[in-house]
Amino acid sequence: MLRLWRGLSAADSAEGPEMRRSAKITLTAAALVGGAAAWWRGHPSACPYGQRFWIEAPHPFIGRRRLRDALAPRPGETVLEVGPGTGYYSADIARRLEPGGVLHVFDVQQPMLDHTMRRADELGVRNLEPRRGDARQLPYDDASFDAAYLVAVLGEVPDQDAALRELSRVLKPAGRLVVGELAGDPHMVTARALRQRGERAGLGWERRVGPPFGYFGVLAKPAVASHQQPTRHTARRDR
Ligand SMILES: C[S@@+](CC[C@H](N)C(=O)[O-])C[C@H]1O[C@@H](n2cnc3c(N)ncnc32)[C@H](O)[C@@H]1O
Repeated sequence: MLRLWRGLSAADSAEGPEMRRSAKITLTAAALVGGAAAWWRGHPSACPYGQRFWIEAPHPFIGRRRLRDALAPRPGETVLEVGPGTGYYSADIARRLEPGGVLHVFDVQQPMLDHTMRRADELGVRNLEPRRGDARQLPYDDASFDAAYLVAVLGEVPDQDAALRELSRVLKPAGRLVVGELAGDPHMVTARALRQRGERAGLGWERRVGPPFGYFGVLAKPAVASHQQPTRHTARRDR
């Protein structure tokens, strides 16, 4: 910024016009990128399959090992992953549910699900169950899952409160929810906002794993269901 300022001020000096032009171009580009990020943030939408290169890149601070620490998957458990994208985490978690456990992968885009299933198959992991739909209305019965997780997804959902209510509903009592978020993602949800939204949905905040700019938030459903818990005894299955 200081260099840019100097660039603009240098217009009055001998090097003037050239430096001023490049400073203006840089400032315009920065304004465009900032404007696009602000627009995107205000208009949540799913990352299109055609732009999957964003999610195929390494996931600094929110890697697989850290997710395992936060989620603590155990053999025999039934776990839900919302928004697997191209399956960066899926096979690794599914493997840890064996023997006997299943990872349900749920995404609004069929090509993402197909990609995830192909990737798991190539790795010889078969205990995944795909289903397409919108996180705001999960097609699963109440208390179906021991745990659920979603990484870089919540901010893409137009109604985050509805998604968290649904996740709370489908978790078993004492079920855990892990939400991963990373700075740089225009849809990032801060740990503070996540905690507040989770509590509104009946999920207690347990801890943050990782730094504030790249973290997994761990929440849990109370062991005994309270009268405030969202309930829907039978979910519609055809969405
Ligand atoms: C940015 S990608 C993250 C993928 C993966 N979790 C990762 O970290 O590599 C977001 C994923 O969430 C899915 N998604 C977005 N909105 C959704 C919604 N309302 N319901 C279900 N899935 C959604 C997108 O289709 C996409 O696969």
